[in-house]
Amino acid sequence: MNKRPVLFEPFRIKSVEQMPITSSEDRKKWIQEAGYNVFGLTAQQVTIDLLTDSGTGAMSDQQWAEMIRADESYAGSRSFLELEQTVKDITGMPFVIPVHQGRAAEHLLFSELVEKDQLIPSNGHFDTTLANIEDRGAEGVNLLHADGKQPFTDSPFKGDIDLSALELLFNTEQSRIPFVMVSVTNNASGGQPVSLKNIRATSELCRKYQKPLIIDACRFAENAFFIKKRESEYATYSVKEIALELFSLCDGMTFSGKKDALSNIGGLVCIRDKALAEKIKNRLIIYEGFPTYGGLAGYSLAAMSQGLKEVLDERYLEYRLRTTEWMVEKLIQASIPVLRPAGGHAIYIDSKEFFPHIPQHHLPGITLTTSLYTIGGVRCCELGTVAFGKTLPGEQDGEDGQRSPELDVVRLALPRRTYTEAHMGYVVECLIELYSQRNECHGFRFCEEAPVMRHFRSTFTPVK
Ligand code: F0G
Repeated sequence: MNKRPVLFEPFRIKSVEQMPITSSEDRKKWIQEAGYNVFGLTAQQVTIDLLTDSGTGAMSDQQWAEMIRADESYAGSRSFLELEQTVKDITGMPFVIPVHQGRAAEHLLFSELVEKDQLIPSNGHFDTTLANIEDRGAEGVNLLHADGKQPFTDSPFKGDIDLSALELLFNTEQSRIPFVMVSVTNNASGGQPVSLKNIRATSELCRKYQKPLIIDACRFAENAFFIKKRESEYATYSVKEIALELFSLCDGMTFSGKKDALSNIGGLVCIRDKALAEKIKNRLIIYEGFPTYGGLAGYSLAAMSQGLKEVLDERYLEYRLRTTEWMVEKLIQASIPVLRPAGGHAIYIDSKEFFPHIPQHHLPGITLTTSLYTIGGVRCCELGTVAFGKTLPGEQDGEDGQRSPELDVVRLALPRRTYTEAHMGYVVECLIELYSQRNECHGFRFCEEAPVMRHFRSTFTPVK
């Protein structure tokens, strides 16, 4: 990564949005009213919103221009044909199907491919993917490589899948596995990249056992730039060439346009197999819309198409990855337990290490999200015991009815092209202030527990 002392944002600001500036007294009241779940706050109560990088980025003047130019025809719209061409250029996939967002792609694909009691191995399914698998009565199996489970060691591809674990699963459970998924980057474990070497080896294993490989491509451009920087044989390749190579190794992909298509909404499912594409298109008509708009306005197709071209700009990607890297450097200097090396779209803080006096079943991630909000109006997301610690049917409950995921983290996700270095400096300062007061903080337990994806809608009570 470029180590120039100042690497400026490679864009200038043409339109501004006022930020809500609030008092800590108000924030204390609001977080209590929200049941200590930051998802329950209104956007007007939040100053810097790092809840997600999904659909929250700033679009470019070119994207807005393309939106005005868009074609809103129900069937065969020019905006679809342009998007289809852009996607084919980047992925080489013959069948490009638009959907309203990533989880719709998952729903459609899994409705065709996943049956009850099957197993879907992955380097790390994210929450919606896992929920869609479980909704089909199947089970997601996370086979993260051992390196990825070490929060504080630097290694270049901590998103890789464990190939020997995958081969073992093929040997013991082959008939239960409909396909393998690889998520790039690996959002469930620190936004860490997956190497092309690992994807190629996964693809070869899949071929050996005659299973399709599906890429969850939400952050493919960030992953491709990591490959360029860290996998020496690709140093001279363009990000687009790396992406093309990556997609050449898989049989299909799901994609949320809200991430690396730099758009506020949209998604894709792309497939090589014609018969499967036909089935998905027929189902698409029932759930999303005609196959040339897939539940989106023509202007959203146009925004995605333009965004997919812009995201391949290496100056943009360099600035993007340098931002998280810069924050991680500052947090390491302050001895804050941050996952390293920096991931692409977010920084992840180890909640258990941040609050060693709060047991994991007292939800230290909720302590972190709520107290960071109270200190500075910064909103971020728990991805630990609340998000991933629900006990499964037949499993024995842990303490307070919770499992304890190995990684119990809070994620500060960076919307694309939205905040400046000064904003990120402020966030770092708030974290340092909170760290100095950590011993005064207490844990939480569930008040109302939501049945699925618990981090979105549960509420909590302080444990004092
Ligand atoms: N796959 C991954 C790896 C994701 O990170 C997400 C969304 C999805 C699939 C689903 O896409 O939101 O368009 O339906 N992640 C967001 C996040 C919500 O905050 O990380 P979607």
